Amino acid sequence: MTGKPDHLTDEAGAVLTESIDERVYFVRSKRWIAYPKAVEILGHLNALLKHPRTTRMPSIAVFGDSGMGKSMLVEKFRDDYARGADDEPSRPKTKLLVVELAGRPNERRLYAQILAVLGAPQNPRATIVELERTAVRLLVDLGVQVLVLDEIHNVLAASWREQRVVFNTLRYLSNELKLSLVCFGIMEARQAINGDVQLARRFDALSLPRWTANKEFEQLVLAIIRNLPLKEPSVLTVKGLRRILQSSEGVSARIFRMLNEVAIEAIETGAERITDEALERYKPVGEDEAAFQ
Ligand SMILES: Nc1ncnc2c1ncn2[C@@H]1O[C@H](COP(=O)(O)OP(=O)(O)O)[C@@H](O)[C@H]1O
Ligand SMILES: [Mg+2]
Repeated sequence: MTGKPDHLTDEAGAVLTESIDERVYFVRSKRWIAYPKAVEILGHLNALLKHPRTTRMPSIAVFGDSGMGKSMLVEKFRDDYARGADDEPSRPKTKLLVVELAGRPNERRLYAQILAVLGAPQNPRATIVELERTAVRLLVDLGVQVLVLDEIHNVLAASWREQRVVFNTLRYLSNELKLSLVCFGIMEARQAINGDVQLARRFDALSLPRWTANKEFEQLVLAIIRNLPLKEPSVLTVKGLRRILQSSEGVSARIFRMLNEVAIEAIETGAERITDEALERYKPVGEDEAAFQ
């Protein structure tokens, strides 16, 4: 084959001449697909990095069901920032810090997780005050301006009192260090944050709702398909699109997985395109929710 096929992105077109195994590997590998809502949210996040340090820094909360692509957004935000810093060696790499709120958070664990991400040595016998002092000093020294907390809904596993303490700590960091906070979590986390009126007030809330039958959903499907290395252009009708929505229940992770699996089948069988019929035949393997937690 010569030249780049029009129906594919450069990235997918580049692997078209590779072996079947290589192409399947490409489909299974992690890659970022842009869609308007994600690009819009990334725009808001990037604006935080450029915001001047003021007494009240803007903060953003992004809510969406499990599998809607929140963690992918966090990674994309971090990767783009790191790449930008590589291009500009004088720019600090440490303006952005991402912490995944694992387990049942409390004040000690929050500081410990911040220190772990910063690669700071940890003394298990340190008091909370010592942990706080070290974390605050490092955050200031490194010039961290945006603190991203993924999986913020894990605070729901904590007692009401512990939740108050964690939110209090976040408020303290945002005030003292003039940090923007960015929290990602499932919808239920919203109520928890709203329990701290002062904290809730400083967040602009954005959401990643499940996909429904509209133009944006069609654009998402087209964007995914353009990045699947199939030799022939896929032709989906309204029926095929409806099938994707019905099978995925509008959850991004399941939409991506469905199209990937059907594309792999098309590569392996030589069909080389996605059709309504192939989507109709598709059965998700092991409907376990845990796969996209
Ligand atoms: N923008 C995207 N590009 C490519 N794949 C995506 C994208 N968004 C979501 N996915 C797919 O959906 C899965 C779940 O996304 P994830 O970010 O982990 O969801 P959440 O954090 O909201 O539970 C990912 O592992 C990936 O396969
Ligand atoms: Mg996640």
